[in-house]
Amino acid sequence: MSPIKAGIINVTGYIGSDLARLLYQHPQVELESVTGRSTAGQELADVFPYLSKTRLSIKDELDSNINVVFSAMPHRSSIEVVPSLLKKGMKVIDVSADFRLKNASEYPRWYGFDHPSPELLKQAVYGLPELHRDDIASATLIANPGCYSTGAILALAPVVKERLICPDIIIDSKSGVSGAGRALSLTTHYSEANENVCAYSLEGHRHLPEIEQELEKLNPEFSLSITFVPHLVPMTRGILSSCYAKLRGGLLDGSA
Ligand SMILES: NC(=O)c1ccc[n+]([C@@H]2O[C@H](COP(=O)([O-])OP(=O)(O)OC[C@H]3O[C@@H](n4cnc5c(N)ncnc54)[C@H](OP(=O)(O)O)[C@@H]3O)[C@@H](O)[C@H]2O)c1
Repeated sequence: MSPIKAGIINVTGYIGSDLARLLYQHPQVELESVTGRSTAGQELADVFPYLSKTRLSIKDELDSNINVVFSAMPHRSSIEVVPSLLKKGMKVIDVSADFRLKNASEYPRWYGFDHPSPELLKQAVYGLPELHRDDIASATLIANPGCYSTGAILALAPVVKERLICPDIIIDSKSGVSGAGRALSLTTHYSEANENVCAYSLEGHRHLPEIEQELEKLNPEFSLSITFVPHLVPMTRGILSSCYAKLRGGLLDGSA
């Protein structure tokens, strides 16, 4: 089988640069083309010396011979470029939240904008292979799951599907600082984040609607009530999620 020709839009962020590292090592992929806004015209090796073997230049636009494009842009920016990539016949894997939610009316509440391409929300496949492997294989637009959502959905999917628990669920998650991206912000400064732990998005985190969407699909009759509280902890990367729910009555003594 000839290798898949892959491209990355926005290689300069944490996700874009990590994608470049992973795709370059993949035996069935040729990383052909990468773009970056602030670094266009530079060699990828000069921006990220650990990627020196890739021998790629960062461009303004992707080359046209790409089969699969990874869009690693911030949410709301990805929507602007994805439709034209699909029209060119490229398969798109979007890592932002722009195509994750099936219900367009959720976007103003969680992301602060009206979704301009609701028809693409129907077309997009939620890219969690453990739940949607066959659909992912044939999809042209794949919405990569959020970081917190991935851990929480994988932990809870089996017990929700089999209805082994009561519907009140608590998800307590701790994330490292890289989840906030590479750009500087006050909350992720070393002196703010180091030796500190803080809960945030107490009024509701953006990954909650994804978690609800995917768990509810597994068992539509099950009326879930999810409390999700994310915390920032002083690690560079990684997430630990502890998920709590009561076992359904009678399961332990065998009377259920
Ligand atoms: N970090 C994570 O753990 C994580 C996990 C899952 C999903 N994601 C998603 O992945 C995407 C990228 O996240 P990240 O963490 O890699 O971000 P990041 O490290 O903060 O990088 C963002 C980069 O995007 C570029 N950028 C900003 N606005 C842009 C625009 N309007 N058009 C084009 N480029 C723009 C900037 O590059 P220039 O300096 O070149 O302008 C900046 O370096 C986001 O949608 C995020 O939600 C992130």
